[in-house]
Amino acid sequence: MVNADYRQELEALMGYKVAVIGAGNISNGHLKAIAQMDRLEFAGVADVVQERAESAAERYGTKAYNDYKEMVLEQRPDIVVNTLPPFLHREVSVWCAEQGCHLLLEKPMAPTIEDCEAIIEAAAQHKVKLLVGHTIHYIHDNLAAKSIIESKQLGELIMITDSRHIKYYQPNRPNWCYWKAQAGGGIFTNLGTHSIDRVQWMTGSPIVKVKASFEYGFPIGDVESSGIAYVETASGVVATIAQSGHGGVNRNEAEFLFTGGMMRLATSSGLWISQNGAYEPVDLSGAVNSFVLQFEDLLGAIERDEEPGCSGTYARSVVNVVNTMYESHRLGTELAVV
Ligand SMILES: NC(=O)c1ccc[n+]([C@@H]2O[C@H](COP(=O)([O-])OP(=O)(O)OC[C@H]3O[C@@H](n4cnc5c(N)ncnc54)[C@H](O)[C@@H]3O)[C@@H](O)[C@H]2O)c1
Repeated sequence: MVNADYRQELEALMGYKVAVIGAGNISNGHLKAIAQMDRLEFAGVADVVQERAESAAERYGTKAYNDYKEMVLEQRPDIVVNTLPPFLHREVSVWCAEQGCHLLLEKPMAPTIEDCEAIIEAAAQHKVKLLVGHTIHYIHDNLAAKSIIESKQLGELIMITDSRHIKYYQPNRPNWCYWKAQAGGGIFTNLGTHSIDRVQWMTGSPIVKVKASFEYGFPIGDVESSGIAYVETASGVVATIAQSGHGGVNRNEAEFLFTGGMMRLATSSGLWISQNGAYEPVDLSGAVNSFVLQFEDLLGAIERDEEPGCSGTYARSVVNVVNTMYESHRLGTELAVV
């Protein structure tokens, strides 16, 4: 048995073997980042759909597996990236933690708080690090927006309006997205958790109160197709989050209102500030691949034995907020997030 300190030193010196579980949409970002980082090497890609695993493995010169357990037992990776649908996050993360693998788990962390807690507990018990991939923490324009808020150059932040519109019901969207038992929820769980995360992370304060209303209009499944929520953070910032999966004009934007100006963020399109009635673009040069920054956060946590920027406890709070929104809709009332 290698002692924990020695294992940490060894990992930092030798680099890390990374296995990817799930070769669907989001796996591409992780695979590209692994290929780009000198300190990471591939330890295989697993998918129940053999051709997906094979296609990804071939592109990145690694081994394809049908069964993630076989891959982990054979390859003994230092890190596993879990890109499976949410209903599989708990089972697979807990098993991988038991094998001693650090975890990079895609958002949303899991459908229920009990699932989140089981994952957090398994990581703690087996002394592995857990990072949940709330991507916006690592996206350059979001980082720049956060630093503008923190600099107070526009004064105190008072409110946020966040909206996302996208044609959600599409033939190429994986079927699990439409079923609550598999996805945890609809557009608010899949995309709205980015907005919930944005409000909490950018204000540095948890959401403590919600009032939400949803509409259920997709031709299949049992999840919401649109909704709107009013939220308040512990620090007193108020926000609205509106999401529509019915198409129209695509939008992924947030506007921040301060005592001394305004800021507009259109993720992956730009960032603007205004102090005099007109928006001016913010210089966003020097962006680094967000998936690389995400891995660096996890490696830093492993090497310094600390929590990553996006920890399991934080990701649990996001699930708690969205699930409280569903309860608020069901009861037709404002609820405290407890
Ligand atoms: N961070 C982001 O911005 C972002 C973006 C997209 C998706 N996601 C998250 O990533 C996760 C996956 O989303 P996706 O869009 O890539 O889904 P997807 O359906 O495209 O990919 C999931 C893959 O897992 C495979 N799979 C299912 N069960 C398996 C098993 N037992 N063993 C191995 N493979 C199995 C499927 O065959 C599929 O290829 C979700 O949690 C989603 O919310 C995050």
